Amino acid sequence: MMRARIVVTRRWPADVEARLATMADVAFNRDDRPFDADQVTAALATAYILLPTVTDRIGAAVLGTRPRTRLIANFGVGVNHIDLAAAKALGIAVSNTPGVLTDCTADLAMTLMLMAARRAGEGERHVRSGAWVGWRPTHMVGSRVTGKTLGIIGMGRIGQAVARRAHAGFGMTVLYHSRQRLDGAIEAALGATKVPLANLLARSDFVSLHCPSTPETRHIIDAARLAAMRPTAILINTARGDVVDEAALASALGEGRIAAAGLDVYEREPAIEAALMGLENVVLLPHLGSATAETRTAMGDCVLDNVAAFLAGRPLPNPVG
Ligand code: DGY
Repeated sequence: MMRARIVVTRRWPADVEARLATMADVAFNRDDRPFDADQVTAALATAYILLPTVTDRIGAAVLGTRPRTRLIANFGVGVNHIDLAAAKALGIAVSNTPGVLTDCTADLAMTLMLMAARRAGEGERHVRSGAWVGWRPTHMVGSRVTGKTLGIIGMGRIGQAVARRAHAGFGMTVLYHSRQRLDGAIEAALGATKVPLANLLARSDFVSLHCPSTPETRHIIDAARLAAMRPTAILINTARGDVVDEAALASALGEGRIAAAGLDVYEREPAIEAALMGLENVVLLPHLGSATAETRTAMGDCVLDNVAAFLAGRPLPNPVG
């Protein structure tokens, strides 16, 4: 019997690749170069199942080539790089990897919060440059995290995991803005209060973004919303780059209209707004939210579960769209 052909667009953890190889006829991307549009189109033309990641643009143009692919099983939870409506219209199923990267992404949001508030990136650069001349009371003074107010935009799994850490671990007051209100018992456990966005921006010491990238959330933090934040506030983004107007953020940081930012994601990855690169008051990480060995293996295994279900004609565990 002919085995289904699967194309994987990036390198995965070796043990997961080995498990995948037993399931089908798999074309791996051994040198791990990102696919360009032609390669994505070619993969869609030949593969029964495509296993892409956030770096692959699977928009209407490539889907318009009427691909042979029947399942797009994404390695990652965010699916803003896939045109879900176009896939649906072509009868292509889509799945993702929710849940398995919640804690690790929440940990990274806390890392950015602590680094930005305590000037950890700046301090590290200072030490490595050889410029440090020793302790002094006024040196590199940052701001306290414990007991402050955290505003969370997008209160899904990851937003709630951040709230849990902030409230239980750092005694923070949590405000949130979300389409839906959480159950009262969950709100109480997280110490979280739902408020209008304008109220959240005006009251929060930290604003952390955890909403998906959609047409509605694009630039949800723009110049006007940055102006509505406190001058001492710190913005954290571990969601998707385009939920923040990066140029407006660079101006606000450069002019000291907000105190600092911690970013893991960018509007045009891997490019970063040039003005941000020279600023000391922004921590810049290379999209590390899910980057732990445990989580990357769990993400791969989650993709494999969806592939196995699809090949067996069972419902997908993690359908999207
Ligand atoms: C996700 O899962 O969406 C991460 O941003 C990258 O994998």
